[in-house]
Amino acid sequence: MSTPPTTTLAIEARDVRKRFGEVVALDGLDLAVPPGQIYALLGPNGAGKTTFIRSLVGLVRPDAGELRVLGAPMPQRDVLADIGYMTQAAALYGDLSVEENVRFFARIVGRGDPEAALRFVELWDRRDSVTATLSGGMRTRLSLACTVVHRPRLLLLDEPTVGVDPQLRAQLWDGLRAMAADGVTILVSSHVMDEAERADRLGLVLGGRLLAEGTVPELLARAGVDRLEDAFLSLSARAVR
Ligand SMILES: Nc1ncnc2c1ncn2[C@@H]1O[C@H](COP(=O)(O)OP(=O)(O)OP(=O)(O)O)[C@@H](O)[C@H]1O
Ligand SMILES: [Mg+2]
Repeated sequence: MSTPPTTTLAIEARDVRKRFGEVVALDGLDLAVPPGQIYALLGPNGAGKTTFIRSLVGLVRPDAGELRVLGAPMPQRDVLADIGYMTQAAALYGDLSVEENVRFFARIVGRGDPEAALRFVELWDRRDSVTATLSGGMRTRLSLACTVVHRPRLLLLDEPTVGVDPQLRAQLWDGLRAMAADGVTILVSSHVMDEAERADRLGLVLGGRLLAEGTVPELLARAGVDRLEDAFLSLSARAVR
């Protein structure tokens, strides 16, 4: 009898722990995300979302636990070219033009399509603008373009649509959905509930642990409420009790 093939998970975290002095940022976090899934990490300020994302790219070294990204134990340099990481604070060169920023990020990895990335975030018409002169939401969109320009297999987006207007946010999500359909895995952290609802699966992080996870209907049923916001309030309250 042959065993069925196991799909390599895009993200696999087991009992990941990280302390910063007295602060426990990750307290045994477990997470499994299969390829092509959009997974939203939700949680209040200080819950550990950014620390977890940073540990996936080797910027934070966990004290304990196991982390595999695209099948490889982290940290591992080779895997980084297949990851697009959008940090919570935009990392752009203000004195470069919009297009130069995207080209720079493509150069680092050695591949990419700057025009496609700028069209994705609707900044192609602004390609010659000096980045420092963009509006806040446009800067966020440019960061997203820099994150996807090299066509990564895994996208890590730390609050990617803060300051982006609702119409464009909906369009960006359509774009992310299309990437996921092509097999790209997307981990997104968010506080915005209507955004979280667009993910395939949601995980609630509190105190550095994964408190609850599931699809929107699963989480609503578990909390016995009609709105996602209420589900998270109720599930968090149960956890701290
Ligand atoms: N480099 C660091 N040095 C010291 N403490 C840190 C460091 N990075 C994170 N922390 C602490 O770890 C905890 C988790 O922070 P983290 O940034 O992961 O939260 P978050 O869930 O991303 O919050 P937010 O929603 O505000 O972005 C916080 O108490 C934070 O102050
Ligand atoms: Mg954060």
